[in-house]
Amino acid sequence: MNIKELVSQMTLEEKAGLCSGADFWHTKAVERLGIPASMVSDGPHGLRKQDEKVDHLGVNDSIKAVCFPAASATAASFDRGLLKRMCEAIGDSCQHEKLSVVLGPAVNIKRSPLCGRNFEYFSEDPYLAGELSAAFIQGVQSRNVGTSIKHFAANSQEHRRMSSSSDVDERTLREIYFPAFETAVKKAQPWTVMCSYNRINGTYASENHWLLTEVLRDEWGFEGYVMSDWGAVADRAAGIAAGLDLEMPSSGGFNDKKIVKAVQEGKLDESLVDLACERILNIVFRYTENARPDTPWDKEAQHLLAAEVEGDSMVLLKNEDNILPLSKEECVAFIGEFAERPRYQGGGSSHINSFKVTGAVAAAEGLPVIYAQGYSAASDSASEEQIAEAVAAAKKAKVAVVFAGLPDVYESEGYDRTHMRMPECQNRLICAVAEANPNTVVVLHNGSPVEMPWIGKVKAVLEAYLGGQAVGLAEVRVLYGDVNPSGHLPETFPCRLEDNPSYLFYGGEGDHAAYAEGVFVGYRYYDRKKADVLFPFGHGLSYTTFDFSNLRLSADAITDQETLTATVTVTNTGACAGKCVVQLYVGDEESSVFRPVRELKGFEKIALAPGESKDVSFTLDKRSFAFWNSEIHDWYVETGKFNIEVGRSSRDIAACSSVTVTSTAKVPHHYDENSIFMDILADPHAAEIFKPLLDGMRSALIPEKEEASDAARDAISEEMNLAMFNYMPLRTIISFAGDKADPDMLRHLLEAVNKG
Ligand code: BGC
Repeated sequence: MNIKELVSQMTLEEKAGLCSGADFWHTKAVERLGIPASMVSDGPHGLRKQDEKVDHLGVNDSIKAVCFPAASATAASFDRGLLKRMCEAIGDSCQHEKLSVVLGPAVNIKRSPLCGRNFEYFSEDPYLAGELSAAFIQGVQSRNVGTSIKHFAANSQEHRRMSSSSDVDERTLREIYFPAFETAVKKAQPWTVMCSYNRINGTYASENHWLLTEVLRDEWGFEGYVMSDWGAVADRAAGIAAGLDLEMPSSGGFNDKKIVKAVQEGKLDESLVDLACERILNIVFRYTENARPDTPWDKEAQHLLAAEVEGDSMVLLKNEDNILPLSKEECVAFIGEFAERPRYQGGGSSHINSFKVTGAVAAAEGLPVIYAQGYSAASDSASEEQIAEAVAAAKKAKVAVVFAGLPDVYESEGYDRTHMRMPECQNRLICAVAEANPNTVVVLHNGSPVEMPWIGKVKAVLEAYLGGQAVGLAEVRVLYGDVNPSGHLPETFPCRLEDNPSYLFYGGEGDHAAYAEGVFVGYRYYDRKKADVLFPFGHGLSYTTFDFSNLRLSADAITDQETLTATVTVTNTGACAGKCVVQLYVGDEESSVFRPVRELKGFEKIALAPGESKDVSFTLDKRSFAFWNSEIHDWYVETGKFNIEVGRSSRDIAACSSVTVTSTAKVPHHYDENSIFMDILADPHAAEIFKPLLDGMRSALIPEKEEASDAARDAISEEMNLAMFNYMPLRTIISFAGDKADPDMLRHLLEAVNKG
């Protein structure tokens, strides 16, 4: 298919028309030219394919489908292969349902536990989010169906989401909010990207040329089409010029007319409309030419896959006295409505019409389990009778397991949470049950961290997140030890909401949300502050134990053009088989910019039989050591020593080594008469030119110890003198260096320095 040729046959009106949807979910057909319509659908963790009565917020029904665990859960698997397998299944169902693109993955960074959509997002860490997004995309696209990575970019709140400007500095965008998209584009080339609702530093994402063209396409090499989030278009012609190809949903033809008018009035270059059409048609035909509607969709098999994915994603947060796994012989009380009717997905556009749901009570059939409802999620209440019944059940059982979490209304697309608390009635229930039976376990169903005022009263906590329609099956397997838990937290659980680094600014003032904590998001902040947290990033227990030994590096020193291999030996030192997540962090020992203590730069999940050992290797490259240098607008490694840490969480480092990395890049400095001595002396080139003059001046200003009078020595120490000298600007040479310097001389020296 020659797409350029096809576009050249289209009228301006047809081309403008192709740049917006036909309705909520379809691109337009141009029958006279044989251009078919194509359908897109939410996403991300299953299909929400709507037919006749359409809306995009999940109010109307969609087809019966399989709801896999949400990204909050799958991120905890730290398992690229697992994500890929899950998404191959999603790709198969898209083929079956004749969908060209599934709208996901959703990869925005979890800046605050309050974001209403955190359940749909992967992590507070950009490396983890990027790796898992790439795996997601590779999985779906292996089936010749597209993905739409979203929401590009800096869309980390729901509050005023369609008008708010995320005000973020360049380095923070590059280090925190962009990499998940960048990695996905570079590693997995998503067929489409969805731009976000918000503005970035004042400009809507949907009309941001820097974002959609310079960064996304010119720098990262994105080849597909950009579509708008549903209703994200403000100025359509500006969008075309910026690189927004497809507006969704249909604008009823109004914006198509605006495109035509802008071209006719000479305000928009028609070649840009052609380009948008080419990009859209490339994808439309890539799908149609590879459509396989005869692909079977085995929902029962996918239900089991959903259980497997969730089983490897659940995070065992606490397990005092090895209370878990449970014995299949002893009576266990399942308490709480979520044991019977689990909360397993979030509200809004990702809401899936599950073809079946398995709760823990049903999954435990045949086991000695008794059940008490404990609370009612819909009314967010627990009657005295419900609590009494729960307490009685807890007393009868060897172990009481409370299935708790957040009811639907607590977190959803479209609005943010206002606090991090669980429902008061559930907290009361947990305390009452724990009082009745010291062997109390809590299983949590939530998309984002919660405060746990009862943490000291219960023996174990299992975080299920929003675990998909087979969550109960996975829970029973993990609780009884058929599956050994191997999930790790993809985010920090702070002790209190107030501890979160964005707490003072989250949500913003009016339409400006200042991302004032900069790169210190999540553990990057808590670790730098040495702050107490409830559970750290990367934390997760197992029914076995793993030992890390013999961390070795391929070199002691490298340049930033070379790679480094770090290898560690991991041994299963416990009694049962299990999966271990090995996390590798890098930290710069000393830096001229503020940097986190450590940043995740590698992870692997490996399976080990009891007593078995395996070597795990990581390859680190320039990006593993670099920060975004806003002076040169590029990644930059500052020469020096870097710590390489391997561990089980950001707070449980088991082995550490270091490497010296030497920069091969030059940061060109420009000096003027206000540049200070310290900076001049730290730059070898500038120091060489200025040193004789500065040395002379220093000795004139700072007398040698022996020469100074007693009074002068008492009044001012050498350190104070030196500090004052260091911070003096070059222009003071004229006043302080006597007849050794004059303005002309300073100008000549500066010219010589700046010439390089
Ligand atoms: C959401 C997107 C979603 C779209 C279509 C929007 O409200 O932000 O994530 O894909 O609707 O349903």
